[in-house]
Amino acid sequence: MSQTFDVIVIGAGPAGYISAIRAAQLGKSVACVEKWVNPAGERVLGGTCLNVGCIPSKALLASSEQFEQIAHHASDHGIAVKGASMDVGKMHARKDGIVTKMTKGIEFLFRKNKITWLKGTASLMGEQDGSIVVAVRETEGAEPSISLARNLVIATGSKARHLPGIPVDNELICDNEGALRLSAVPKTLGVIGAGVIGLELGSVWRRLGAEVKILEAAPQFLAACDGAVSKEVFKIFTKQGLSIEMGVKIGEVKAGSKQVSVAYTDAQGAAHTQTFDRLIVSVGRVPNTEGLHLESIGLSTDERGFIPVDDQCRTAKPNVFAIGDVVRGPMLAHKGEDEGVLVAEVIAGQKPHIDYNCIPWVIYTSPEIAWVGKTEEQLKAEGRAFKAGQFPFAANGRALGLGSSDGFVKVLADAASDEILGVHIIAATASDLIAEAAVAMEFKAASEDIARICHPHPSLSEVVREAALAADKRALNG
Ligand code: FAD
Ligand code: NAI
Repeated sequence: MSQTFDVIVIGAGPAGYISAIRAAQLGKSVACVEKWVNPAGERVLGGTCLNVGCIPSKALLASSEQFEQIAHHASDHGIAVKGASMDVGKMHARKDGIVTKMTKGIEFLFRKNKITWLKGTASLMGEQDGSIVVAVRETEGAEPSISLARNLVIATGSKARHLPGIPVDNELICDNEGALRLSAVPKTLGVIGAGVIGLELGSVWRRLGAEVKILEAAPQFLAACDGAVSKEVFKIFTKQGLSIEMGVKIGEVKAGSKQVSVAYTDAQGAAHTQTFDRLIVSVGRVPNTEGLHLESIGLSTDERGFIPVDDQCRTAKPNVFAIGDVVRGPMLAHKGEDEGVLVAEVIAGQKPHIDYNCIPWVIYTSPEIAWVGKTEEQLKAEGRAFKAGQFPFAANGRALGLGSSDGFVKVLADAASDEILGVHIIAATASDLIAEAAVAMEFKAASEDIARICHPHPSLSEVVREAALAADKRALNG
């Protein structure tokens, strides 16, 4: 006998599990299908973000940052440390413990909200009386259990893009999954792609002692960032010891028994071959729709594999929605979460809205990079008249005390109305500082609003205020 639910969500990553919780809060009967099995063979919730993405990567970034501070910067404070060493196994055990705590937390939330977890892989089998027929198989080829969805939310996420001819085994050649569990610090680490994962995980293993070389195809470093930011962080990262080569063309990649060799042509056209102990391939992610059988309900993907949706994440079928990494927009956990809330509220008859321009980005390097809204380059391309204010952390007492005085805050505001159009931050805690800018932009604040608000002293947040003052050429401390 099949069971009918008001809402079935496919995928329990941050987009899907949040959508399921919000729909349950709104009184809907909800099931969520999830197929993930962790390396210990256990079925877990949380998707990429909790298992092999945001959470484990931030745990490793924190451990490696502590190690670097203790081993190399404690002496700045007069602390003598001899023989600091890293137990990589213990670092992974800590990370795995955090992941387990978080994934178990979602199981608790599902029980609390009476959400049925359908364990296995979902595929669609057409429609019955206006509901979508969802088949769930516990194992491949197993007899499916059938459920009916009055509303369907597809939140199947994404997976690492691999390159032809580069065999990822997650031992010698890794995507994000292997890169998060290297059993020892490699002496030499190659990274293909100087994007978010390349910089974050490249930083983790560099801090622990690996010699890291990042090979990037694009001519411009971090092209999505404001130009002043990408220029500054390139200098900071190379000074830290990350070797980043832009404009390369990757040739043959050969895996030996212990090492991997990478042939590439540099920006000037010269040929090179370099050998690494480990290689990370981080060249973007692709949406997951394989085996879903979208065609059984009359849907298809676009040319890049994404499920087309409108502003309310509704597909061409009125009772089918798609959210998170499987649809257009930035592949960010918080973007997926907001879409999850949005579709649950749409299904419940509410009229929610997401302003995609106010979604913040963070790269968790040291210092962190964060931004929201438009870059200076985008505003120039749009022909919009704007003013810019920039203020450095080097002039902030709290940053100096913390030993984190690299970076700056840059505020871009409309030349006439003073509305904040973009905020760009390089700072130790840019991930937290950017929240003020996101709130301000959601409220359509002017740079003068931030400039008039009392900020605590001494704090890094004072630099946000000074940058807002600088947009009106009246910074007080600079
Ligand atoms: P996912 O998290 O990918 O979840 C999709 C789920 O659907 C998976 O659990 C999958 O098993 C399940 N599924 C797929 N198909 C089926 C099926 N047919 N049946 C049943 N289940 C199915 N973003 C940030 O915002 N901040 C960060 O710091 C950050 N760090 C990251 C670090 C790394 C190393 C990586 C790889 C990503 C990171 N991201 C980060 C991106 C973030 O993880 C994704 O944007 C986010 O997980 C997308 O959420 P989602 O719910 O759309 O998809
Ligand atoms: P990315 O899109 O950030 O970067 C990929 C990089 O690889 C680009 O710079 C691209 O030009 C380069 N590239 C592509 N093909 C190449 C080739 N053949 N040779 C050399 N370089 C090549 O993708 P990444 O780092 O894999 O991360 C995937 C996504 O995961 C991110 O876009 C982001 O959405 C999400 N993520 C978010 C994080 C965060 O919010 N802090 C952290 C990690 C991932």
